[in-house]
Amino acid sequence: MKRLGLFIGLLGLLLSLSIGQQTQDEALLQRARAASDAVLTQLLARLNQEYQQGGAERGVQVCAQVAQSLTQQIGREQGVNIRRVSLKNRNPRNAPDAWERRVLQQWERDHKAGKELKEVAEWRTERGQRVYRYMRPIMVAMPLCLECHGTQIKPEVRRVIRERYPNDKAINYQQGDLRGAFSVKINSQPTEVQR
Ligand code: HEC
Repeated sequence: MKRLGLFIGLLGLLLSLSIGQQTQDEALLQRARAASDAVLTQLLARLNQEYQQGGAERGVQVCAQVAQSLTQQIGREQGVNIRRVSLKNRNPRNAPDAWERRVLQQWERDHKAGKELKEVAEWRTERGQRVYRYMRPIMVAMPLCLECHGTQIKPEVRRVIRERYPNDKAINYQQGDLRGAFSVKINSQPTEVQR
């Protein structure tokens, strides 16, 4: 009987640990999604505004100046590390790391096979630290994207891009293509369970 009690006790402990982990993961997932939403809406709003005032020439200047700082600012506000990545990146700082590359390559294959692309979230150990990682696809969802990432970019716009990004790879996209991803990293904090 004693054994059974111990067994049930252990089972209960294990269950509560895994439920604790689940709610923690759910909270991290919500944070990663919220940060991605914020970057998406704020960048799009800014792009639209500039575009209306001065077309793609102005949009590209502003994108080059604000995309990085805006993304980092939102990351700080939300307490996460967020960036945009792509296999064909324009800014060298948006080149994917090994894990991001694997996810993007898998998405490319899935997209070609006509499958729906889904966000990815997992715990990884990086340099001895537990890190929560999240990625969500960014598609070439509207014609506006093609003004700066398509096959027929205006010469004035192309000139600005070449000057600012001599190693640009982010062109020749079609509408509906996979453009890249939001990538979020959250460092693990000591939880009640670990203490
Ligand atoms: C007015 C020009 C312009 C338009 C329109 C535009 N982009 Fe970009 N895009 C840029 C520039 C410039 C960068 C590099 C920003 C940086 O320095 O991080 C960039 C970078 C990106 C990146 C980060 C990866 C990389 O290549 O460095 C993604 C993802 C992206 N754009 C997606 C889109 C999508 C999706 C749309 C349509 C909603 C779009 N862009 C419309 C100019 C544009």
